[in-house]
Amino acid sequence: MPSSFAEARVDLGAISENTAALARRAPGAGVMGVVKADGYGHGMLPAARAMLAGGAEWLGTAFIEEALELRGAGISCPVVAWILPPHAPLSAAVAADIDLGVSTPGLVADIRTAAAETGRRARVHLKADTGLNRGGLTAEQWPETVAAAARAEADGLIRVTGVFSHFACADEPGHPSIAAQTSAFHEALEIAGKAGLEPEVRHLANSAATLTLPETHFDLVRPGIASYGLSPIPGLAGTGLRPAMTLRAAVALVKRVPAGSGVSYGHRYTTDRAANLALVPLGYGDGVPRAATNSGPVQIGGRRRTVSGTVCMDQFMVDIGDDTLGADAEAVLFGPGDDGEPTAQDWADVLGTIPYEIVTRISPRVPRVYGAR
Ligand SMILES: Cc1ncc(COP(=O)(O)O)c(C=O)c1O
Repeated sequence: MPSSFAEARVDLGAISENTAALARRAPGAGVMGVVKADGYGHGMLPAARAMLAGGAEWLGTAFIEEALELRGAGISCPVVAWILPPHAPLSAAVAADIDLGVSTPGLVADIRTAAAETGRRARVHLKADTGLNRGGLTAEQWPETVAAAARAEADGLIRVTGVFSHFACADEPGHPSIAAQTSAFHEALEIAGKAGLEPEVRHLANSAATLTLPETHFDLVRPGIASYGLSPIPGLAGTGLRPAMTLRAAVALVKRVPAGSGVSYGHRYTTDRAANLALVPLGYGDGVPRAATNSGPVQIGGRRRTVSGTVCMDQFMVDIGDDTLGADAEAVLFGPGDDGEPTAQDWADVLGTIPYEIVTRISPRVPRVYGAR
């Protein structure tokens, strides 16, 4: 391990292969690799390069700042940023040829101004809210915004490169909102077409839709979580995806305690017999959820075990019974699962959350190390 205490090892080959596998699932479409939130915790730049190596042609971020970081690292493919709060650096984005996701009518005017200031044509993706009721233009706002965008296009200030939307429940196969949103997207495209817009790319599918809803692939699919090898639909068979991140730590010490010993803050765990306790130097300061107290799965000395007592800021304890460990013993919190170690999905199941949250929350204190283990 490169650090004395822990590492989040990221298998970039897995990210490339997952991207290639997703591309094969959407043969008529291109792939936009989603790298927001530091590449779902995997490291944005290495993840982006791995996706491009795997055949992604576009990248997607939430914020312009993330997209600018990609440009700063020399990544020149089309990049879309789709959350643009009031003081977003639009001119910098236009100057860097970043495609801008438009979710409010007012943004068209703001982007016109940025284009005029910059002396460059802005690249715009109009986002239709087809039923997620989060970002995106409502059905009411759509015709006027499409018309404003068409005028800005005629004035040479913007180019509507894309029209897109996002699903609410693509991870629930058969959910009635899927068909409703798909049909609303078709309607939005028709209105845009009638206004004279000819977007290069129409895109709707996240990971779940890429894997299960071919009728939603359009010109481009936008997988995030699946590119990192985690399934958007727990238990979905035959994805061929490989989890890219392994979180492991050195066992910092082992101590013997008598039966009846309360362990860690609050004594929320008590040994029912004399036991060896292993200290794992990762805690909520590293992104291990405190809610994993007495429940988080961990592999130590080749065996599956459970966090014993409260997860602290920098450490937690594990009752390993009468087992003894070598000096170089490791604790594996999650990985691909090949050697019996827990997966991010196992952590999500125990905590009542999704694997997205498990990998994304690993904090910068944990060094990212690149390469298969
Ligand atoms: C607009 C948009 N597209 C695509 C994605 C990728 O979603 P997923 O990670 O489920 O594939 C996200 C992520 O939340 C998103 O916000």
